[in-house]
Amino acid sequence: MINLVLFGKPGAGKGTQATFLKEQYKLVHISTGDLFRNNIKNKTSLGLLAKSFIDQGDLVPDRVTIDMLKTEVDQNPQTNGFIFDGFPRTEAQAGALDTFLNEKQMEISATIALEAADDILVERLLERGKSSGRIDDQDEDKIRNRFEEYNQKTAPLRDFYAKQNKFHSVNGIGTIDEITNRLTRLINTL
Ligand code: AP5
Ligand code: MG
Repeated sequence: MINLVLFGKPGAGKGTQATFLKEQYKLVHISTGDLFRNNIKNKTSLGLLAKSFIDQGDLVPDRVTIDMLKTEVDQNPQTNGFIFDGFPRTEAQAGALDTFLNEKQMEISATIALEAADDILVERLLERGKSSGRIDDQDEDKIRNRFEEYNQKTAPLRDFYAKQNKFHSVNGIGTIDEITNRLTRLINTL
């Protein structure tokens, strides 16, 4: 079983690369951002709660995020493994994920960070914001707030996974294909 965490700032290419990797390695892709956006679209109570945080570029509270993630994992008992995209994003989430996976005799195989400079990411997200309908992509202040949330709450997970010898970095600048190749070369060594 391979369980990957795709890590990186907003716009780093986690979702884009997960689309290729899930085909190649036959993995289930779980993006907590996509799950929240589906809940918002379907006007569920979870969506209603999440919307106020997401639209401002703030993280959604841990409890609801962790519960949502566990439900999604439990719905895919037969898979070869998972790509976790945008989860975990806090130390509480990372700890909960380790405990939850251990209970199922599973573990994270590797956490792979896609690295790119803020200015490039802002450009990518503002461009997407023209057509995505994502309120959090349409305003540079909100994008910068997402980076701030990442720096404060998510960046410490680099050490969390480095201590477990599971942290890897990949250059996230280049064509989408080039980056997929960098990722597959790394994953094939795991
Ligand atoms: P989420 O949906 O996870 O968004 P994000 O991490 O802020 O960023 P993106 O998904 O926008 O970026 P990405 O790295 O997937 O890049 P992508 O491939 O799309 O989270 C949204 C919100 O939900 C959070 O702010 C929070 O409120 C909440 N949330 C989610 N998870 C949570 C959690 N665990 N805890 C608490 N709250 C949570 O690419 C971006 C753009 O760049 C695209 O247009 C793409 O086409 C383009 N692109 C990709 N690769 C390249 C390339 N190589 N060259 C040029 N352009 C490229
Ligand atoms: Mg994404």
